[in-house]
Amino acid sequence: MDSKANPRTKRGPEKIIIFDTTLRDGEQSPGASLNVEEKLEIAKQLDRLGVDVIEAGFPLSSPGEMESVKLIAEQVRRPIICGLAHAQPQAVDAAWEAVKGAARPRVHVFLSSSDIHLFHQLKKSREQILEISRDMVARAKGYLEDVEFSPMDATRTDPQYLYCILEATIDAGATTVNIPDTVGYTVPTEFCALIQGIFKNVPNIRRAVVSVHCHNDLGLAVANSIAVLDYGVRQVECTINGIGERAGNASLEEIIMAIKTRGDLFKYTTSIDTTQIYRTSRLVSDLSGIIVQPNKAIVGANAFSHESGIHQDGVLKERTTYEIMDPRSVGLGGSTLTLGKLSGRHAFKSRLEEMGYTLSEEELKKAFNAFKELADKKGEVTDRDLESLVAEELRTISETYHLEHIQVSCGDPSVPTASVKLRTKEGQIIADAALGTGPVDAVYKAINRLVGVPNRLTEFSVKSVTQGIDAIGEVTIRIESEGKAYTGRGASTDIIVASAKAYMNALNRLLALKEKA
Ligand code: KIV
Ligand code: ZN
Repeated sequence: MDSKANPRTKRGPEKIIIFDTTLRDGEQSPGASLNVEEKLEIAKQLDRLGVDVIEAGFPLSSPGEMESVKLIAEQVRRPIICGLAHAQPQAVDAAWEAVKGAARPRVHVFLSSSDIHLFHQLKKSREQILEISRDMVARAKGYLEDVEFSPMDATRTDPQYLYCILEATIDAGATTVNIPDTVGYTVPTEFCALIQGIFKNVPNIRRAVVSVHCHNDLGLAVANSIAVLDYGVRQVECTINGIGERAGNASLEEIIMAIKTRGDLFKYTTSIDTTQIYRTSRLVSDLSGIIVQPNKAIVGANAFSHESGIHQDGVLKERTTYEIMDPRSVGLGGSTLTLGKLSGRHAFKSRLEEMGYTLSEEELKKAFNAFKELADKKGEVTDRDLESLVAEELRTISETYHLEHIQVSCGDPSVPTASVKLRTKEGQIIADAALGTGPVDAVYKAINRLVGVPNRLTEFSVKSVTQGIDAIGEVTIRIESEGKAYTGRGASTDIIVASAKAYMNALNRLLALKEKA
């Protein structure tokens, strides 16, 4: 590395703009379909986390997307709210329409720039692409000051042509130019050289913030994103839990904790409150149905657990022997306070408030009843239990069918049998029973007989929220119907009940979407 070319050595610590695209690129993860309320809830949590920019969606893509971007723009006032647009007039207009109510709106225009995309997909010449890019940035600039431009597939674009596009779009008014590694193809050394080339060959580059947007196809998204900071990149695009198209995007929590933990190397600041990381990760996983792998850095279930005796011994003697980060710095294990059977409504409410939940009277009543029921069963109720309980009680989507009752008989030898009662929207109770290969299979078959929507179960996972035999079990499932995937989540101290709830949750999502369509 040429140390003279390293802006870090010339200036003091600089702020890196954190651009979160969980609600846009993250939502492009297969199976992650969030409804409007869920997107708003995630946006509010991203605000608490402290991100600078929330890319809230791609407004032209559907009326639901337009609605959710508008709602986030109206209700989440601190961060910049960004709407994505492909380089067509109606997309730019729709993005502006969606974000114009924001305190700080941004429109993000993108168009492919690599020959491979131009030739095979867009069937346009380089000259045409340059002109469209310039025109669409100028169109957005006619509406607002803050305009971002992305030459898609930049890392497979001829650098000389990339320089021309960047220069033209900055002249047309782009205040941020983003360099996407759309297919996750580049590697750190090559990417750093590209960024150096951009700073050297684009004459007006200092008039814009240079951003990167890395995909993880080769597992290098985070490495690529942080390597280029030393070459002048000042905005990083990323997602919570690294979710996104295909293998996902660069993971926000990994980038942030790398910058923080290796403060000796990275002299940068961000506005992220790292103690909100864990909660944000859980929320995104719960609502999107995309499970975090146990060995995922920073937020995986095993990220801070030590299995080997030597490691445990070291950590007991001195935490830093085997822990490079304090789990409390990402919001894990801070509270030792647990609520129990005797805790009253006031203690319950204040604990939820400390955890960042503000509930209406009606919601509080519902959640408190569920808490009492849980405390009766399990004695001690931890923060993790409370999070699961709030998720279960308050995030109910509009239900076409409500699970009223299930009863299961199983054993060895026996034929697993389930009877199920559902309540329809109109209040009618319907009931049926079925046999299955196991208790969950029997429950799902009984529900299928009542709901009658053909679908295929493609994923089923069960995990316990806390340790102990009396822990709450959370079930996350994915079903597919007519080529679309739907996720469902259910929690209960009884995993068969949790499985039934998860299935009803997925079916209700499917039915709600069908009704809307
Ligand atoms: O990966 C990509 O190129 C994108 C653009 C829209 C920035 O997501
Ligand atoms: Zn992307």
